[in-house]
Amino acid sequence: MTNQKGFCLWFTGLSGSGKSTLSRMLEPELRKRGCKVEILDGDEVRENLSKGLGFSKEDRDTNIRRIGYVAKLLSRNGAIVMTAAISPYAEVRRQCRGMMGSFVEVYAECSIEELTRRDVKGLYAKALSGEIKNFTGISDPYEVPEHAEITVNSESQDPEESLKEILGYLETNGLIPAAAPANA
Ligand code: ADX
Repeated sequence: MTNQKGFCLWFTGLSGSGKSTLSRMLEPELRKRGCKVEILDGDEVRENLSKGLGFSKEDRDTNIRRIGYVAKLLSRNGAIVMTAAISPYAEVRRQCRGMMGSFVEVYAECSIEELTRRDVKGLYAKALSGEIKNFTGISDPYEVPEHAEITVNSESQDPEESLKEILGYLETNGLIPAAAPANA
């Protein structure tokens, strides 16, 4: 596709809610449609662009503004940028939305009970025991988005269903072309 308009697909949600998984699943689907794609993943950004930042509100806001800034640069050059950071504060998410021509917020919803049960990285147990302080959803706030364009839920949906929901929204709103038939 030559004239693709860039936009930002902004995932937000608690740690372990599926943001990274879904962005990685979307990447090949979008490329198949001829789109240019970049992922700004929270854990990865904290290894380079935001190295040294912690988890105070100030540091999280700095982290998110940096992600928003890079997403703006890339998306205005025709890329689809997926961001996958918790981004717990509504105000800074709103600021990022305002920086971009086209911004689609995806809330990856999942209950604390379920995330604690899964505890893929073992961080919820540590947060509950107090070993990790200021952990989002346990001892630090998460402000649920009130106007997300898309909400997916990893408790009631499997990842393929969530993927379909997101692709469906993007197609319906003319942000991406429909997938070419398998034998085309
Ligand atoms: S954000 O709040 O600034 O958006 P970000 O997505 O970059 O967070 O980083 C979250 C990841 O850092 C989590 O998935 C988890 O692996 C790790 N982490 C370490 N400490 C914390 C904490 N106190 N709160 C949340 N996540 C933490």
